[in-house]
Amino acid sequence: MLVLGIETTCDETAAAVVERQADGSGRILSNVVRSQTEEHARFGGVVPEIAARAHVDLLDGIVASAMKEAGVGYPQLSAVAAAAGPGLIGGVIVGLTTAKAIAMVHDTPLIAVNHLEAHALTPRLTCALAFPYCLFLASGGHTQIVAVVGVGEYVRLGTTVDDAMGEAFDKVAKMLSLPYPGGPQVERAAADGDPKRFAFPRPMLGRPDANFSLSGLKTAVRNEANRLTPLEPQDISDLCASFQAAVLESTADRLSIGLKLFQERFGTPRALVAAGGVAANHAIRDALQDVAARAQTTLIIPPPALCTDNGAMIAWAGAERMAIGLIDTMEAPPRARWLLDANAKAPKGYANSRAGY
Ligand code: KG4
Ligand code: ZN
Repeated sequence: MLVLGIETTCDETAAAVVERQADGSGRILSNVVRSQTEEHARFGGVVPEIAARAHVDLLDGIVASAMKEAGVGYPQLSAVAAAAGPGLIGGVIVGLTTAKAIAMVHDTPLIAVNHLEAHALTPRLTCALAFPYCLFLASGGHTQIVAVVGVGEYVRLGTTVDDAMGEAFDKVAKMLSLPYPGGPQVERAAADGDPKRFAFPRPMLGRPDANFSLSGLKTAVRNEANRLTPLEPQDISDLCASFQAAVLESTADRLSIGLKLFQERFGTPRALVAAGGVAANHAIRDALQDVAARAQTTLIIPPPALCTDNGAMIAWAGAERMAIGLIDTMEAPPRARWLLDANAKAPKGYANSRAGY
């Protein structure tokens, strides 16, 4: 089975061709990603309209490159898959419409993939991981703990009630005048800092649910930064180190609860899988390693290029859905919001928050 995958939900324009064998294993034939970081850097974050326009400009060329690199012609495709959400709606429309056009012209099945599902299924492409497993997804837009029970079977065990983790890193970087995207900059600055200089709050620590909260911590960093202004380089390093230490402790605590909830409902997970840009952070990786060991499971982090947004994960999720007969029609809508777990409810007391999206 050969599937073309298209990803345009945020600031990466990406397309890939993936092959799925009858035994369920996968192979990436091409994986072309064009990040728009430069276009957004001077605004300190992703600007939706700029992203949508860039997807319009870039996508045709990226799809052509992915097909050429794979050495595959359109008639050979078994399906074309696109991320139909959740994400910035302008970009989602560009990717989904392009996929529909290809599907119509070449009379190929269309698969509308949930972007989060694609992150969730990636370890089955990279290392043929069996169900069930526990996913920790932390990116600029999402922070979730998900039980991955089967294709199309996801149970959300925890979510952020306010900011996403990558977003918190980006906002802390911005308030300290570090360049965008802020996560790697904060990690770098933290390496020279004192994690104990500031006693920032450890959000949600000890709570029996597995939810995250990051906006209070971010505000605590802002207050401290304002108090110290003008900031010396050592202040910036210490603020970053103390912020990161608080994120680490909170993450370890939230994940150990998440794994406990997993165990109660689904037994021992085959692995703890981390994905999303934040999984690139070495200190967070170390913390996850400890959490996994304590829960007597192994930590799997797909290679960086497959952890962050890419077309191969969309193609693979499309192939996994196609293999069990899940095909979409031309009516498949682009969706800014799309819960991976349709039964997930907003955490108690946070009904009006962005939780879960
Ligand atoms: O998954 P991703 O590439 O894109 C989406 O958001 O979908 O994640 C990007 C996010 C950004 O917020 C970025 O600051 C964060 O991941 N990030 C990091 C690190 N590298 C990237 N956060 C903390 N430490 C890092 N080393
Ligand atoms: Zn993503």
